Amino acid sequence: MADDPTIKTLSELRVFEAEDVARLFGEVHTQFDRQTSVPTDQGRLEALRSAWLGRKSGVLTRVTENWLKTSAPALRPAVGRCLNELRAHVEQRLGELQKAAESAAEQAVLARERVDLSLPGAVRPVGSRHLLRQTFAEIERIFLSLGFTVVEGPEIETPYYNFEALNIPEHHPARDTMDTFYLETPAGAPQRLLRTHTSPMQVRTMEKQAPPVRIIVPGKVYRRDNPDATHSYVFHQVEGLAVDTDITFCEFKGTVEYFVREFLGPAAKTRLRPSYFPFTEPSVEIDASCFACGGSGCRLCKFSGWIELFGAGMVDPAVYGFVNYDAKRLSGFAFGLGVDRLSQLKYGIDDVQLFFQNDVRFLRQFA
Ligand code: DAH
Repeated sequence: MADDPTIKTLSELRVFEAEDVARLFGEVHTQFDRQTSVPTDQGRLEALRSAWLGRKSGVLTRVTENWLKTSAPALRPAVGRCLNELRAHVEQRLGELQKAAESAAEQAVLARERVDLSLPGAVRPVGSRHLLRQTFAEIERIFLSLGFTVVEGPEIETPYYNFEALNIPEHHPARDTMDTFYLETPAGAPQRLLRTHTSPMQVRTMEKQAPPVRIIVPGKVYRRDNPDATHSYVFHQVEGLAVDTDITFCEFKGTVEYFVREFLGPAAKTRLRPSYFPFTEPSVEIDASCFACGGSGCRLCKFSGWIELFGAGMVDPAVYGFVNYDAKRLSGFAFGLGVDRLSQLKYGIDDVQLFFQNDVRFLRQFA
């Protein structure tokens, strides 16, 4: 800025008259106005401030040093007045620019943060209950309405509760169909296995609780089966047990028939077929009239008109012996519902694996 007049003294600039002083200050004024004629941001405003008001080498400092302090006494009043005017003008204008810059910055923030209430909201997908859970809930609803209570038990069991106390001794052939997973246990410690059915809770409940007993036991069970359309190494059961002083086969049959009608619909008929379980005597399989064809025969019921639902029976007195119940005074019935199987039948699902693959296209159909 070699041609910047403010770095020279008045005599160097050959200013000796008051009019020349006014003209000179007029030029500085014009220069300042040119630099501050447009709105500006904070960064440039800082630069302007230090160029004009900077303590060490700002224009006003230089004017004070080079023009006022060195001026001839005759010119000094004129220089002083002009300098005061210039300072007032500079400070006022920079103040205006500062205000404008602040409000522009504020507007920018507001624009950036504006919330458009007309935009569609964020869609958060909500899950639904798995079909097996829905079936559990439906079964529980029915039995709760009959005065049963829900209890749950351990999935890791001992052979005693899973087999022996249910009248299935060590070399009983019923164990072959219930091969399961054994846990590693320290030498000498009792064996542990994943329960193959919910029936152990019959024993555990009667051990703890004096009769009468009316319970259902929902839960997971395990078997060493290879997965295919009808097998899975984990599946689900609801055990049922009712023991009291006056329970006959009639109560048993009535309860089971009520459940089948509630679960499958009022048109469902029930049939009891002789069967065998070590812990019930007599034992039965409960069949329902085929709900696909109404009993006339179709592929689903293999043209028999009936579909096997679950196993049940009157509690074998031998079981009472394991829990110190008086077999002469007490009687009762038990049943074991396969939740996966009942869901498959009710909703026409031909492959159990679908329950475990968690394909949302499958799950959403039951949402
Ligand atoms: N626990 C048997 C199973 O898993 C099912 C069963 C049958 C349970 C008859 C019962 C019953 O309580 O009475 O194969």
